[in-house]
Parts: sequence; C-alpha cells; structure tokens
Amino acid sequence: MRIFIASDHAGFLLKEILKQHFNLVDLGCNSKDSCDYPIFAHKLAESIKNNDKGILICGTGIGMSITANRHKNIRAALCTDIQMAELSRKHNNANVIVLGARIISTEIAINCIKIFLNTAFERGRHLHRLNLINNIF
Ligand code: RB5
Repeated sequence: MRIFIASDHAGFLLKEILKQHFNLVDLGCNSKDSCDYPIFAHKLAESIKNNDKGILICGTGIGMSITANRHKNIRAALCTDIQMAELSRKHNNANVIVLGARIISTEIAINCIKIFLNTAFERGRHLHRLNLINNIF
C-alpha cells in the first residue's frame, strides 16, 4: 500500500511536516507559491490504485474534497478531528483523508492520519450503503 500526499500552497507547510512523520509519496505542490488545488487533487486521485491511500491538504480542505470526489474510485473524507478520521474508515471506507491546514493544528492532523491509516472498514451494512452511492442495489 502506497500513501500519496498532495497539497496546494495553503497546505504546503503542513505537507512538509507530515512527510517527517510518515512514509509518503509526495505529488506536490513544491513551494508556498500560489497554485490551483484541483490540479493536485486530480493528480492524487488518478494515482490511487487498489489499497493505496491518499492525504490531500488545502486551506479548508473543501476544494480538495469536492475535486477528489469527482473520481469514481475515490472516497475522500474531510476530517477535522480524530473521531471523523476513525469513522471515515469504519463507516465510509474512505481512501483519501482531506485536511484543512488553516482549520486544524499540526498535532490534530498527525493524530487524524495515524487513526486513518490504522482503522479498518467495518463492511456489513456500511458496504451496502457504499454500493448505493454508485447505484449498485
Ligand atoms: C487557497 O487560498 C484556498 O482557497 C484553498 O487552499 C482551499 O481552501 C480551497 O478550498
């Protein structure tokens, strides 16, 4: 399982810090210079195969979430605390966690990622609901 990370300029510093704590494949951006978050959200979404996971960061996390969720194989969850990170895995089988660098602290971001990477999908009724998202009855 590979873990990809990407951000825009607003998430750049947090991305650099997270790379010191986890083994991540960095898809950019590469500086604090202003850039367009959809480019990086699409790049990460297209890189995710099989059991890979992704981390997307922008200012609020909203733009990255909206963009990543346009991809059919992506379940991107914007998380602001560890409970959301845990439930995004247990109930939604999220394969991408999205963080808002202007919203949460570095400590919360690290804890969210730890939980996200170490929590399994519960399947059962939640699998049925995930199938319904794609109109599979
Ligand atoms: C960039 O200023 C900001 O709009 C972006 O990082 C993100 O928050 C968009 O949703």
